[in-house]
Amino acid sequence: MAMSVSALRETLRIAVLASGRGSNLQTLLDAQRDDACRFRTIGVFSDRAQALALERARIAGVPAIALNPADFATREVFDVALFDAIDAVRPDLVVCAGYLRVLTDAAVQRYAGRIINIHPSLLPLYPGLRTHTRVLADGASVHGASVHYLIPALDAGPVIAQVRVAVHADDTPASLAARVLEREHPLLLRCVEAIAAGRVVQDGSDVIVDSRRRSRPLLLGDDDQLHEPADT
Ligand code: GAR
Repeated sequence: MAMSVSALRETLRIAVLASGRGSNLQTLLDAQRDDACRFRTIGVFSDRAQALALERARIAGVPAIALNPADFATREVFDVALFDAIDAVRPDLVVCAGYLRVLTDAAVQRYAGRIINIHPSLLPLYPGLRTHTRVLADGASVHGASVHYLIPALDAGPVIAQVRVAVHADDTPASLAARVLEREHPLLLRCVEAIAAGRVVQDGSDVIVDSRRRSRPLLLGDDDQLHEPADT
């Protein structure tokens, strides 16, 4: 019997790290219901047993594991246990999608070139927490989100792609966060798809897209596709 095209294709195995709501995870889970999808979530890992992300995984039939940081003596020991559990599902890529603990350098190095994060700002602007509040306090007119490879430094590492979101005069941190989150979902999906298709790889402090070294991140357009940034 002939095999379907999708069965012949390689599928990127992804492990997702999430601490809370898991709406970015849900976008990935929804996309993989399509037979043509070239990635598959093979495990979801959390530092919080109550994370809604774990429930979303279980509903989708994906193994979900939570480890409690309080059960471990140090951050280092916790991350060793967490990444041993991740190793066990043999992922090609680790996706931090709302994982709110800072990873140890050793954990990041274990997956060097194979671990990405979504962050709610236009990096290198606004690394760290409370990005929406800080953007509003500064009176910035443009905000957004970034997907980047992880390196052993907080919210650093080469940026694959970004999405820009206009700040409105009447925005609150909550309204701005909601508008950014809506755009995070297609941004993360397109980046994971591009990695699964072999179009995007990390090379040290650079991102290579379609065999070309990039000095600037790709941009998610209103059409929800990744584009080259304009020259200006
Ligand atoms: C997202 O906004 C993500 O960018 C952010 O947490 C939220 C998780 O939402 N991540 C960080 O702040 C990491 N520094 P979700 O759980 O609904 O995907």
